[in-house]
Amino acid sequence: MKVLGILGSPRPNGNTATLLCQVLAGAAAQGATTTMISADKLAVRACTNCDACKGTGQCVIDDDMQEVYYRINEADVVIFASPNYMGGISGHLKPLIDRLYLYLSVNETGELRTTIENPKKVALLLTQNAPREYTHYTEAFTPLRGVLHLIFQGSFDPEKESLVAPMLVAPSMNGSRSVVDNPHFLQEAYDFGAGLVRTK
Ligand SMILES: Cc1cc2nc3c(=O)[nH]c(=O)nc-3n(C[C@H](O)[C@H](O)[C@H](O)COP(=O)(O)O)c2cc1C
Repeated sequence: MKVLGILGSPRPNGNTATLLCQVLAGAAAQGATTTMISADKLAVRACTNCDACKGTGQCVIDDDMQEVYYRINEADVVIFASPNYMGGISGHLKPLIDRLYLYLSVNETGELRTTIENPKKVALLLTQNAPREYTHYTEAFTPLRGVLHLIFQGSFDPEKESLVAPMLVAPSMNGSRSVVDNPHFLQEAYDFGAGLVRTK
């Protein structure tokens, strides 16, 4: 089983990177082959909504996203990891997420469908300064989790918790190494990664 982690933080040793490594370590312990790529190291342009992909199934923008599509297509599990930046995902990750538009189509009755070839498990890892009690911070990610579930697993209903991508949140991260001072998060992330592989 192949597990792909996509890091949306620019800090290679920050909270998000540390936790994503733990998620991947948990997956590897279950026998998965893991790869991590860093959005910050890639040149990925914003989606232009040219809709060429709706005719061809290919994105016409010739940049590093082509490699990301390749890696996504060969993966069985994809984890997007981001720090919370101003209530949303980071600007490093956003163009990669938007370019997943490639996989969306609308059928004759106006329903959104995925064109992804093999359904895969998808998950979101989020780190943030806000404490866990600020639930509106994490609720803001429910629509994205719904869209990710639609793209990767084929069904959509953001009202239903079972039809949104699972999310692990590490709150109260106010310094670049906060996660190290909270070792229970490291274990939580490890278990999350192991669980993603076990329940595939
Ligand atoms: C530009 C920017 C915006 C941020 N916005 C928020 C925010 O809206 N809510 C929040 O809880 N934390 C916010 N934070 C804090 C980060 O999400 C948090 O410290 C995170 O763990 C940093 O991840 P990293 O160590 O992987 O870089 C922000 C940080 C930055 C740099």
